[in-house]
Amino acid sequence: MCGIVGFVGRRDAAPILLEGLSKLEYRGYDSAGLAVRDSTGNFEVVKAKGKLKELFDKTDSGKALHGTMGIGHTRWATHGEPSETNAHPHISGMDVKDSDIIGVHNGIIENYMEMKTKLLRKGYKFYSDTDTEVLVKLVDYYYKKYKCPPCEAIAKTMVRVKGSYALAVMFKDHPDEIWAARKDSPMIVGISDNETFIASDVPAILKYTRNVYYVDNMEIACLKEGSAEFFTIDSEPIEKELVEITWDTEAAEKGGYEYFMMKEIHEQPRAILDTLNSVIKDDGDSKKIDFSGIGIPDEDIKNISQIYIAACGSAWHAGMAAQYVIEDLARVPVRVELASEFRYRKPILDKNGLVIIISQSGETADSIAALREAKEKGVKTLAIVNVVGSTIAREADYVLYTLAGPEIAVATTKAYSTQLIAGYLLAIQFAYVRGMIDDEKYAYYISELYALPDKIEKIFETKDKLQWFAAKFVNVHDVFFIGRNLDYAVSLEGSLKMKEISYAHSEAYAAGELKHGTISMIEGGTLVISVLTQPELFDKTISNMSECKTRGAYLAAITAYGHYDIEDTASFVSYVPTADPHFMGSLSVIPLQLLGYYLSLARGLDADKPRNLAKSVTVE
Ligand code: M6R
Repeated sequence: MCGIVGFVGRRDAAPILLEGLSKLEYRGYDSAGLAVRDSTGNFEVVKAKGKLKELFDKTDSGKALHGTMGIGHTRWATHGEPSETNAHPHISGMDVKDSDIIGVHNGIIENYMEMKTKLLRKGYKFYSDTDTEVLVKLVDYYYKKYKCPPCEAIAKTMVRVKGSYALAVMFKDHPDEIWAARKDSPMIVGISDNETFIASDVPAILKYTRNVYYVDNMEIACLKEGSAEFFTIDSEPIEKELVEITWDTEAAEKGGYEYFMMKEIHEQPRAILDTLNSVIKDDGDSKKIDFSGIGIPDEDIKNISQIYIAACGSAWHAGMAAQYVIEDLARVPVRVELASEFRYRKPILDKNGLVIIISQSGETADSIAALREAKEKGVKTLAIVNVVGSTIAREADYVLYTLAGPEIAVATTKAYSTQLIAGYLLAIQFAYVRGMIDDEKYAYYISELYALPDKIEKIFETKDKLQWFAAKFVNVHDVFFIGRNLDYAVSLEGSLKMKEISYAHSEAYAAGELKHGTISMIEGGTLVISVLTQPELFDKTISNMSECKTRGAYLAAITAYGHYDIEDTASFVSYVPTADPHFMGSLSVIPLQLLGYYLSLARGLDADKPRNLAKSVTVE
């Protein structure tokens, strides 16, 4: 996601900040900026939308800015479109000259609207749409109100804000100091002779030092030339151990994982939580889904006659899952279509219908065309999109953003998982607004969603077993994934994960459909992977598995803990925790992603860059 670099030392800061930011480009960004404090104590700020090259050009590769202390940032838009105004650093005033505090931030401030309202009442004015500007102004507010040291002003801010952040700020009247704070968003401090660095990720500073301190949650840091001090939120000093980085840059970018795909698999709990927090508001007594940011009025939700979902690849699979959940909870008919088909089949759309386009990139050519087709027919459109400011996000009537962060591996994992969450959120809210579920059920479903991230962490503990299984089947030729209803939707995704990165031929079938033709393909040793998470359909799928076993198939199964009788039928079982059946896909997909990944690894392939595939398919 976003990247932070800060420097205080004796050399000019700007070239060092730019160099550091370029090492964070792999994280994805849409704009960048830096602030340098010059010898007169003034801040100079330069920002640019688009690639870092723009910032290099605007600053003559940093040579145009003079000052030995500064902060830099690459932004991946979450609040407000990608633009120069929304790019960081953000200032405490409306003009750099009148600003006493300047800062950059990674993460999401969930209650930023509440804080903004408070600050507006206190006379603050805002120039951007970002939560970061609110954060910087809040530090300024406490700093001035209590006339306290920076550490206290930051601590007071930390107490008031909810969400995740890595924050780096400079105070005009504290020359030669950079202050930083962190909660749930990584941050490190690097030290070398007479120089101190701050960064959101190791690669940014590896060229300059390998000696770092890891800032922990709810800690505050003060950087000075060649030294750093750390404090608790109560301003108590903390002793920290200097750690030597032994990785190379490439490994550091991947956070120690061999491939980005594995890193992104592990980012799923966080991505899900961020997506939930972006639309679920806690009013103290209860949690409620708040779609006011999406803009879809309750009256429109009540009047929806039919939902059409159009998407491609994994996004289409997420749509398949959404279909089952929305129909079951909200009782609205849903039709899911491949965007490439939808666009050309002259669809007949009900004027009270809602067309939902799902896309990670927001730039997939077929999905854009499907969106335009729907708009041309005068039907309301809602986009579930990961990239802020993308074409689909800009053109749709309503946008529900997934907060997966930038996804680098071609095979999607965390974006798909957040698309599932977006589908659940729509299903629950539509059901509630349309009177299909009461307050108790509503609260139950929301609490089940919040339980998913920890359950996914639990599944990661079974990785070794899945790796062993993938190694056993390293030479597999044909794999069939079967399941019913939601388990079928997840099987489609499991099969795509396997084929796109391991090149093993695999197909997904609705389990009941096998005997209408495909069962003729099953022979001695064919691998059949079954997904069984829907209690009502458990026995039905077991029957279909038995039909395959009779014909010589090797059976593997993904099911929930407790269903141990599955071992009478399947030779290999991967268990996942239990959740409400509507949301089990978020758990059962994890072992399937891992299986695809480990098979790719066992075959010596590049899991991040599979042959013939592009991350964003911008052509037909
Ligand atoms: O960016 P989009 O979500 O619109 O992309 C759609 C598909 O191209 C994408 O999901 C593709 O299937 C992935 N490579 C699957 O891992």
